[in-house]
Amino acid sequence: MSNYVITRPVAERDLPSVVDLDYEAFTPYGTTEDPHIFTARFKVFPQGFVVAELNDNIVGYACSEKWLSDREPTLDENPEATHSPDGTVFCITGMAIRRAYQRQMIGSLLLQDLLRIAREQGCTKVILETSNARAFYVKHGFSKSGERSQNGTLLHIMIFNFTQ
Ligand SMILES: CC(C)(COP(=O)(O)OP(=O)(O)OC[C@H]1O[C@@H](n2cnc3c(N)ncnc32)[C@H](O)[C@@H]1OP(=O)(O)O)[C@@H](O)C(=O)NCCC(=O)NCCS
Repeated sequence: MSNYVITRPVAERDLPSVVDLDYEAFTPYGTTEDPHIFTARFKVFPQGFVVAELNDNIVGYACSEKWLSDREPTLDENPEATHSPDGTVFCITGMAIRRAYQRQMIGSLLLQDLLRIAREQGCTKVILETSNARAFYVKHGFSKSGERSQNGTLLHIMIFNFTQ
């Protein structure tokens, strides 16, 4: 048994753990997503879906899709309708770390993976929305570009430009 975290592309067998993790992380904020959305993201853009694993347990995930133009992200969007292989706007649709493993740099590892993937995919910017982790993304070079409310929760829209 190794005691270090690895990040790797998601596999279909990981999806139940990802759904469980999403439920744990986002229930307090009222922003959990429908389980079938994760399966759809895996099918539509597996290259942009990564997990962090420790001792055979999934302790973090991050998923994404590519858009043709800027728009406001929202929860539970069907990636079959919104993802485009030719898109240059890289949207991080979800990211969470198991509560017991937060603040141990695992989120930073996953975010770095996604930023690398976004560059490799030819994207010019990365966007996402967050209710509570704005400082985490600011620390990684994002800035706030707007805000909106969903299910009574205030969401900050964050952006990272590769050209800036
Ligand atoms: C936000 C999250 C993904 C960050 O991952 P992490 O592994 O905990 O973060 P890291 O250890 O890589 O980075 C830690 C730094 O990021 C910042 N940070 C981390 N979580 C933060 C949070 N919830 N709020 C504000 N800043 C945060 C801090 O500067 C922190 O440094 P510090 O511990 O010295 O204060 C993780 O805490 C999480 O899953 N939170 C709940 C779900 C969520 O909010 N997901 C993001 C929505 S898109």
